[in-house]
Amino acid sequence: MFKLNTVTPEVIKSKTVLVRVDFNVPLTEVRGKWQVADDRRLQRALPTIELLIKNHAKAVLISHLGRPKTPEDAKYSLEPIAKHLTEKLHLPVTFVPATVGQKVQDAVRQQQPGTVLLLENLRYHKEEKENDSDFAKQLASAAEVYINEAFSASHREHASVVGVTEYLPAYAGLALTEEVSALHALMEEPKRPFVVILGGAKISDKVGALQNLSKLADIVLIGGAAANNFLKAEGFEIYRSFVEEKVGAGAAEKDYSKVARRIITEHKTEKILKDGYIPLPKILYPVDVVAAPSLDTRTESRVKIVDLHTHMADQDESVQLFYLDIGPKTRRLYAEIIAKAGTVFWNGPMGVWENPLFAAGTKAVAQAIVKTTATTVIGGGDTISASHHFHVEHKFSYVSAAGGAALELLSGEVLPGIKPLLSKTT
Ligand code: 3PG
Repeated sequence: MFKLNTVTPEVIKSKTVLVRVDFNVPLTEVRGKWQVADDRRLQRALPTIELLIKNHAKAVLISHLGRPKTPEDAKYSLEPIAKHLTEKLHLPVTFVPATVGQKVQDAVRQQQPGTVLLLENLRYHKEEKENDSDFAKQLASAAEVYINEAFSASHREHASVVGVTEYLPAYAGLALTEEVSALHALMEEPKRPFVVILGGAKISDKVGALQNLSKLADIVLIGGAAANNFLKAEGFEIYRSFVEEKVGAGAAEKDYSKVARRIITEHKTEKILKDGYIPLPKILYPVDVVAAPSLDTRTESRVKIVDLHTHMADQDESVQLFYLDIGPKTRRLYAEIIAKAGTVFWNGPMGVWENPLFAAGTKAVAQAIVKTTATTVIGGGDTISASHHFHVEHKFSYVSAAGGAALELLSGEVLPGIKPLLSKTT
């Protein structure tokens, strides 16, 4: 396993420290003012910020928020986040309405040791996403040391994540270190059986992780709209259900049902009997589904359970159907498998859980996971929201706040933002 250069009190004591955080959090407008709606990502950065305060460092925080098109788009300002952070830290966090330049230099010069500045949205400058070296140099010029405490942005080759490390000694933040270790442990030494559960709306986001985890796991359970690709690949009728088919163009085009077929064929497991081996599928997809004429169906009588192996198409009715959750047999099957797991990784809901008629699959999987004695890791915004909704969020061994970055790491890649943080001694 690679080793990260994690921040220690010695390296930051009384220094000016540039900290890349991920304060890309949802905001809501209350009486004309933007407020933080969910501060989980802020909470994660607190131990590193507190370490800096305790060691009389000057903490200069930088982050992106959303994907602003122009700097004039005020709803992407980080100012409301400075206010929220002030309450969390119980000390004033000074907001600087600039990201680089004289205003920043002046603010840092006047800053007292053991205090915190938050600079304006990095993405107000197009140079951030371009990983522009001048912009990176300007960011670095305000500080003596750099900390990456933004694991969830570390898959982006941006100036504040990658470029800046050319100009400052770079360290991993405490939360980033914890997150990378939790995810790496899944790939290196999972207690077996290792059960991976993947769902959600889009298979394209997950295909790299799916391919890599299929090699490492003992069994992979598929749900959500991602399962439609597997059903289609296996020749089942999916009617009007959402399915990501051909994505991209030219050589980059990917037919995700073909990808699903290949994953099913490539990954088999075996049952050892006295007289030989029985090949078994390692990738399981639903045997039944909850279907309805629309995502917004509110009437229970319009909801149908479709048993995929016995379903006789009643054309008029069936052509109207969307598959919106895993069915009762699949719920039981998945729960039984999860109950025997040594390690579980879950990313992506099993259905449209926001509608109570299609929530049972996601709820059953969440409850089965927290009932086990296995090491349980979940990741991705929708999975966290669903777990919160079903009151189980606090019961997992580790909750990864990163969506895309976690999936890229689990696909076996060294993320561009992690590379500069690797310890040179290993
Ligand atoms: C996230 O929310 O996943 C990170 O903050 C990265 O944001 P991005 O997808 O806009 O780069």
